[in-house]
Formats: sequence, C-alpha cells, structure tokens
Amino acid sequence: MEYSERLQNVTVIGAAGKMGSGILLLTAIEMADLSLKPENKNRQFILNAMDVSDEALSGLMKYLRAQVLKAAEKKAVQLRSVYADRTDLIDNEEIIREYVNDVVAIVRPTTLIESAYNSTLIFEAIKEDPALKVKIFSQINQNSTKSPWFYTNTSSIPISKIDKEANLGGRILGVHFYNPPAIQKLVEIIKGENTLQELVDFANLYSKNLRKIVVPSHDFAGFIGNGHFMRDAIHGIREAEALQSKYSFAESIYIMNKISQDYLIRPMGIFQLIDYVGIDVCQYIMSVMNPYLPNEDLHSDLLDKILASGVRGGQNSDGSQKDGFLKYEKGKVVAAYDINTKSYAPIAEFQSKCDDSLGKVPASILPWKAVVGNPKKDDLFKAYFTELNQTVSFGAELAKKYALRSREIGLNLVKDKVAFTENDVNTVLLTGFFHAYGPINNYLD
Ligand SMILES: NC(=O)c1ccc[n+]([C@@H]2O[C@H](COP(=O)([O-])OP(=O)(O)OC[C@H]3O[C@@H](n4cnc5c(N)ncnc54)[C@H](O)[C@@H]3O)[C@@H](O)[C@H]2O)c1
Repeated sequence: MEYSERLQNVTVIGAAGKMGSGILLLTAIEMADLSLKPENKNRQFILNAMDVSDEALSGLMKYLRAQVLKAAEKKAVQLRSVYADRTDLIDNEEIIREYVNDVVAIVRPTTLIESAYNSTLIFEAIKEDPALKVKIFSQINQNSTKSPWFYTNTSSIPISKIDKEANLGGRILGVHFYNPPAIQKLVEIIKGENTLQELVDFANLYSKNLRKIVVPSHDFAGFIGNGHFMRDAIHGIREAEALQSKYSFAESIYIMNKISQDYLIRPMGIFQLIDYVGIDVCQYIMSVMNPYLPNEDLHSDLLDKILASGVRGGQNSDGSQKDGFLKYEKGKVVAAYDINTKSYAPIAEFQSKCDDSLGKVPASILPWKAVVGNPKKDDLFKAYFTELNQTVSFGAELAKKYALRSREIGLNLVKDKVAFTENDVNTVLLTGFFHAYGPINNYLD
C-alpha cells in the first residue's frame, strides 16, 4: 500500500485531547494536501476524529478551523498553484477559504469507536493508561478487516508490551509527538520487538512531510524524553528535600527551580516544568516506568504528598498554567507552595534571603533567551561553565551537581540501550525540551 493509500482512511483516537488535537491538525493538512493532487482526484480521504467527549469534539472543530486558517495564510502562494485550475477562485481570500473548507471536510468528528474499523492507520492519543490502550487496540483489531497500523503516542509504555497484550502482530509503532504537536519539531519513533519495518518507513516519511525531526529510541519504558526528564525531575525533587533542613519548603522549591533554570540556562526551572506537564502526569509516568527499573527508584513521596493536598499543576482549557509547586500570575512565577501550611508563600518575601545564601554568581551567566538562538552559543557555554566550575558558592555547587547528574542520566540512556547515540539524547533535549545545549557535553571537564 503506497503512502496516499495508507492515508486515505485514518482515525485519531483521543482527538480532542492536548496531543490528539495537534496530531489531528497535522494529519488533516497532510491528507488534504494529498487529496488536492491531480493523481488523487478520484480518491476520497477520511479522517475520523474520535473522542468520548461530544462537547470537546465541537470545541475541537473550532480549533481545527482556526488553526488551518493560520496554516493556509502562511502558504497562500503555494495554494494559488494548487487551485490553479479553479477559475472561480480569484483572490487569496477565496483560495484560503476554499482550502480551509477542503481540510475541514476531510475530518469526521465522532464518539463511535466503530468508525475506526475502516481505517488503515490509527493514531492513538488517549490518556497514559496501558490497560485502556490495549483494550481499544484489541477491539479495533478484532473488528477491522483492514489489518490497520497503530501509531501510539504513549510517552512511557513499552511498545512490545502493547503489541503482545493487544495481539497486533507487530502492527504497532511508537510515534511520540511532543507537546504541542503542531509546534514541537521532535518526534521520537519507537520500534517494538516485532514491529514491521514498513510501519517505521512510513512514519519516517510522514514525519519528514510534516517537517519534523525524527529521533529513534529503543523500546524501553519512558524512551529518551521521559527517560531523561523523569530522572532529572527526581534529582531536583531530592535536592529540594535535602535543602529542607535549612530552608522552608517554599524556599527549597524556589532555590532548586532557580538553579535548574538560571544557573543551568534552561527555558524553565524543573518545578515549573513539572507543573507545566502536570504533577499527576509526572507521578503517573514514573509509576509506569518504575517496574522496568529494578536498580533505581523513580518514585517520589513528595509528589504523592503534594497531589494528596490537591495541588496538580497542568493547564487550564485556555492554555494558561494552573498552580502547582509554583503559583503563576499572567504566566509569571509569583509564589511557591508550602506543603506544611498548604498555602503559597510570595517569592518576594524570601527571594533576596535565598539569593544571598546562593552566593556569588558567575559574571558570564546569560538568560536562556539570550543564548538559545546565538550562533556562538557553544563558546558562550564553554566560558560560562568554566567560570561556574571555578566559582566557590553554594549556588555554583548545586548547579554543577545538577549539570553533572543531567549528563550522567544522558550517558546512562546510551549505556542502557535506550538511546542509540549520545547525539540522539542531545537532539531530544534540544528540540523536545528547548534546551540550549545537550546534557552530554564537556563543559564541566
Ligand atoms: N501532554 C503531553 O505533554 C504529552 C506529550 C507527549 C505524549 N503524551 C501522551 O499522549 C497521550 C495523550 O495525552 P494528552 O496529554 O493529550 O491527554 P489528554 O487528557 O489531553 O487527552 C486524552 C483524550 O482522550 C480522550 N479519551 C479518553 N478515553 C477515551 C476513549 N476510551 N476513547 C477515545 N478517546 C478517549 C479524552 O476525552 C481526551 O480528549 C498519552 O499517552 C500521553 O502520555 C502527552
């Protein structure tokens, strides 16, 4: 089955969710572009947007229309040639409107799983629940006559496990988009033990057409992205716990968030990132990974405790950040949670005390924004980390330990055969997490 044929009837399951909606948008555009090619004139392209929530599906269609409009405006010139034989479409506005209608017409919102029975390709982005994913895949597989391919967006469950339990005979591949899929460049591709090579080849071509950067990962729980992130988070959490003999809970969170953001020159501190992903999501991913890690413990009592107090992080439906370890106002961190008082302590109340105790900061420190796109960033990082290495202060000690742990995590991912190469680990952190430098580097040698 060639590329266009495989994409003629597709279903996205969990289409109204954070990841599903992005995958749906990208796939709808790719399918529409194929449908508009002269050779596909007589083919019908169908993209089922399947979700259990009717309400979310109507919101999804509005989101889809708005996003396709944006995409169409960006490629108006290209669309002119696509619609060259349509003499009834005169100005750009008409062409753009026609294109938006053509893309949206492909998409069929539905709450019925049966709609997937006719699909040759299924993208799955329901919640990270192994049993639910297996149940849905088995059901589709047993009722379909199409021997469909399953592309799962799981961020931690081994692909071979799903394959075996749902009895898919190798017709499953991890195609792990990053959040939000429409913007994030990275796609991790995870081949299970029995995954058929055809699924990998197709996913590579599909990702290339979507202008994504593909990094292959071995089929090990958490893969590269969460393999690094979850351990990095555990490091930050344990360091914050250790600080509590001298600092309050809120101060400890503030300090480790500052070290991991400012001193490590990252786009977000570790607690802000945990809040962004969702404290509950992080705890859950750790619990999925933990049984596969006999020699380490990816469990945090602190996450259990903070969740038990009702604090979860994650996003509101308008995309704004919910409070978690940190409290946000207009996207800015304004307070840190104190688990003992179950309230937020304004950062302004303890910031200078904490910053003073962190001590001397290297003069060559720069904010992430100033370096991330800088063509000379490698030199800047060399200079900064050399200075950090020579700096004697509490903050510098915490930062060096953090950077070295991050490097160790990266190296272990290669040693433990999760990542194929050191470069793959760095690419995942640079593209999927927007770091300005890869964790595997020699800056601190
Ligand atoms: N959010 C992220 O940052 C992120 C990044 C990469 C991968 N992932 C993975 O993507 C998957 C989805 O995560 P998300 O954050 O988009 O979740 P989400 O909760 O935003 O979306 C899940 C969607 O699935 C729907 N759903 C639930 N049960 C269903 C069922 N039985 N049939 C059809 N639809 C159903 C829900 O209504 C919801 O719309 C998970 O496996 C997650 O690990 C998430």
